[in-house]
Amino acid sequence: MVRLSPGGGRVRRIVAGVATVAVLGPLVWLWQDSLLPEAYSVMDMGYADHGGGPHGSSGHETHAAGGASAHGGHGPGAGRDVTQLIADAGRPADVSVTMVARKQPFRLPSGRAFDGFTLNGQSPGPVIKAAKGQLVQVRLINESVPGGITLHWHGVDVPNAEDGVAGVTQDAVGIGKEFTYRFVAARAGTFWYHSHQMSHEQVRGGLLGALVVEPGPGKGEVTDAVALVHLYNGVRTVNGLEGDVHVEAEPGARARVRVVNTEYGVMPAWVAGAPYRLVAVDGTEVNGPAPVTGKALGVAAGGRADIEVTMPANGSPVRIHLGGPTGVVLGSASYDAAPVPRPAATLDLLTYGTPARLGFDPGRPDRRFEYDMGRRPAFLDGVPGLWWTINGHLYPDVPMFHVAEGDVVRMRIANNSGEPHPMHLHGHHAVVLSRDGVPATGSPWWVDSLEVAAGESYEIAFVADNPGVWMDHCHNLPHASQGLVTHLMYEGVTTRFTVGGSADNEPE
Ligand code: C2O
Ligand code: CU
Repeated sequence: MVRLSPGGGRVRRIVAGVATVAVLGPLVWLWQDSLLPEAYSVMDMGYADHGGGPHGSSGHETHAAGGASAHGGHGPGAGRDVTQLIADAGRPADVSVTMVARKQPFRLPSGRAFDGFTLNGQSPGPVIKAAKGQLVQVRLINESVPGGITLHWHGVDVPNAEDGVAGVTQDAVGIGKEFTYRFVAARAGTFWYHSHQMSHEQVRGGLLGALVVEPGPGKGEVTDAVALVHLYNGVRTVNGLEGDVHVEAEPGARARVRVVNTEYGVMPAWVAGAPYRLVAVDGTEVNGPAPVTGKALGVAAGGRADIEVTMPANGSPVRIHLGGPTGVVLGSASYDAAPVPRPAATLDLLTYGTPARLGFDPGRPDRRFEYDMGRRPAFLDGVPGLWWTINGHLYPDVPMFHVAEGDVVRMRIANNSGEPHPMHLHGHHAVVLSRDGVPATGSPWWVDSLEVAAGESYEIAFVADNPGVWMDHCHNLPHASQGLVTHLMYEGVTTRFTVGGSADNEPE
């Protein structure tokens, strides 16, 4: 009698085992391959994309070849570490601020209790004001925020060492430690600051504030107000207040309201009671902004819109709706401007205002990059999900955009991911050339935060005039923490910092 069963069983087991390995093996490999190391330099991330430009002796290649320059190695050709890219060290500060960060339960300006983060006991943090050209110095002290903090100056093209990105331009500032930021406020406009350590938690939790750079003495409006919009526990606030914020403005006077959208999605804004002009976007004046009526404005996540109105001569108030029925009400005697429904039409910045010189020729770029966003099922750091891709690649295997100082750069941002993404490039302002192939014909539309709706594509251009290693990411911060992040890297610049590591740097 031939006993087949043991052998047959073994064969079956082997066949089953081989089949299991065949199915699970690649999955295990994909899972394992997706695990992020405990510490890594963003310079080692992904693959170099030279955008058709020369493959110069960048820090990236030096690092890859040398393999040991992660700690600020200055071998031949290794170039400058980001920490050397600072504002004039000998120049005294014109504006000096100390900010103490805490994790604590506190009351918002509205009176509502909130458990989150404060700067000098409040959230939003204090409005920092400077005049154009002044040197701003901010001493940041972490009294009690676990995991460390930083401050990033959103929209200010600071020297790279002052950019406040944990793991890229500095280490997160742990409890009991401090860090001093110094930069020249070279451009007048509306900006904001926020933590760039675990930013998806810390920004939501209130580690943020507005920064206003005034054009200079006598050049501003009589009425000039900040309207920083933030959701605390899902409650919409303007400057931490719920309901309407009242701003005094005399009949006939010009008033500027500096809207800051700190939220994750585009925010509609519209005006009742007077026409408005969109006088600045992302800290850059619009050229020839005509009065607008019957159109809402879309303020990108992370973006700013300076809205100017001339108050009606009869003294009636003006309402600026920010994302809903409430917002800022400008008035003198009365503030009872009734809310109006949002207009169906939206102001298109592609055609708004009148053209002006760009100061460079985007028609002859030195580099051309693609930033094509998609989405697919995969593992991200061992977690299965439907994750964002950039040019088909998943974080951290994403492109590193290489440039040399002085390059004219064109970038095509395409969104094939099915969801909107507000794209934010650090350290630079880019001008929008076209959307979905339609050229921009209005005022130069300079952005640092560009809302790219699902299915849209934009062509932007900028001059690489600020050496460093710069993040270029989605400002819907949970998306960034899910890997919608790349970097722009200048030849000859290296960073000694690492994501993870002993400082627990976690920029997103
Ligand atoms: Cu407002 Cu990378 O940030
Ligand atoms: Cu996004």
